[in-house]
Amino acid sequence: MSSPLVEVRQLRDRIGQIVTVRGWVRNARTSKTRFIELRDGSGFIQCVAGAEVCDPESYEMAGRLTQECALAATGLVQTHPRSGAPELLVQHLELLGESRDFPITPKEHGIEFLMEKRHLWLRSKRQWAILRIRHAIAKAIRDFFDGEGFTLLDAPILTPSACEGTSTLFATEYFHEGQAFLSQSGQLYQEPGLAAFGKTYCFGPTFRAEKSKTRRHLTEFWMVEPEVAFAHLEDVMVLGERMMKSILERVLETKREELSVLERDLGPLESALSVEYARMTYTDAVARLRELGSDIQWGEDFGNDDETILMNAMDRPLWVHRFPKAFKAFYMEPDPEDDRLALGADLLAPEGYGEVIGGGERASSLDYLLGQISHHGLNRADYEWYLDVRRYGGVPHAGFGLGLERAVAWICKLPHVRETAPYPRMMGTLRP
Ligand code: 4AD
Ligand code: MG
Repeated sequence: MSSPLVEVRQLRDRIGQIVTVRGWVRNARTSKTRFIELRDGSGFIQCVAGAEVCDPESYEMAGRLTQECALAATGLVQTHPRSGAPELLVQHLELLGESRDFPITPKEHGIEFLMEKRHLWLRSKRQWAILRIRHAIAKAIRDFFDGEGFTLLDAPILTPSACEGTSTLFATEYFHEGQAFLSQSGQLYQEPGLAAFGKTYCFGPTFRAEKSKTRRHLTEFWMVEPEVAFAHLEDVMVLGERMMKSILERVLETKREELSVLERDLGPLESALSVEYARMTYTDAVARLRELGSDIQWGEDFGNDDETILMNAMDRPLWVHRFPKAFKAFYMEPDPEDDRLALGADLLAPEGYGEVIGGGERASSLDYLLGQISHHGLNRADYEWYLDVRRYGGVPHAGFGLGLERAVAWICKLPHVRETAPYPRMMGTLRP
């Protein structure tokens, strides 16, 4: 056969032509006419094999296709009379790869089973849609920062010290240097970069030994972390909001099919693209939470439930800022107006999703940081290099981290973060 090989996504431009597509059989229905739903990663196409058009051997093969076998189908591209979508009127089929007893059948499966079979579950239409949206978000993030003149400054994964507290570190032996830790955040490595590049970002995997099993926590997740010289708390909220909007714009522009596979209600996304985000101090947020029925006390960090309660009551993303120092990281700038507070800001996503961004202004005083390092029980020698940022041309600076999987979970409106990564890592999940 010498018909052109095309991808499913290109079929719209091939109406009336004879072409070959290659892919995997999602589903095959047999009656007099045989219907094969084929998937090649770029899209889904219905192939129709009827005895009149199809050669006899292929017609017979179409009657005994198994789920997930690989196939090349050649035929005429036409539009489906009702839906208007392209379909393939099959003339010839070639079996490219057999598949026997594919474990994930169209019936309902339990989540544990699906997680064990993650490498096969990726083939489902739902996972296809989610992970294509993840890709679009990651690309939109890079395009945003590249377009804003940020320099990509990759942060190391193996690090000597903690950034976000010592209770969630994964440790490993590092030759004679002792213990190394998987990075919790690239932030400490962005800050020295400012004096060289002005505005930097890193975007890579980060790790937290989170022992809790929640629908928001992974042990390995991707974070984008911009850092800006001469920036303050206010700039973090402005930059974070602009970045979120550019992500939403991209997804709404290019991922309509995937959003519709997920039956995502577009209203809240469109609204988050156009409205100004709300802002509330931590102190006001605590008061609001208590009105909403939470028993949170001033000084306590939000629990997952608090974030859900707060964000179910909001019609737009919310910046919460100025948190008690006591539960925030050591590097935060204290609030000059209230010594109990740190100049941090978190962005909480609506529809009950909660924190997607964490960031703020960084402490500028060397003495204050030294006090913090000792107060947090950290080893000063591990941070001497970081303290140099304040010793040689220290200036105010600020930044934030957006968790990619949290963003995907909200944008796709998923009940759990486990479906947002190709191979998610959580407590109790190390395979496949
Ligand atoms: O709020 P976090 O801990 O902030 C930092 O790590 C800062 N050093 C970032 C910075 O300012 N450069 O984490 C930032 C974001 C959170 O808002 C959340 O979206 C995500 O990272 N995140 C997680 N995502 C999934 N699973 C986890 N266990 C996460 N922990 C944090
Ligand atoms: Mg946080």
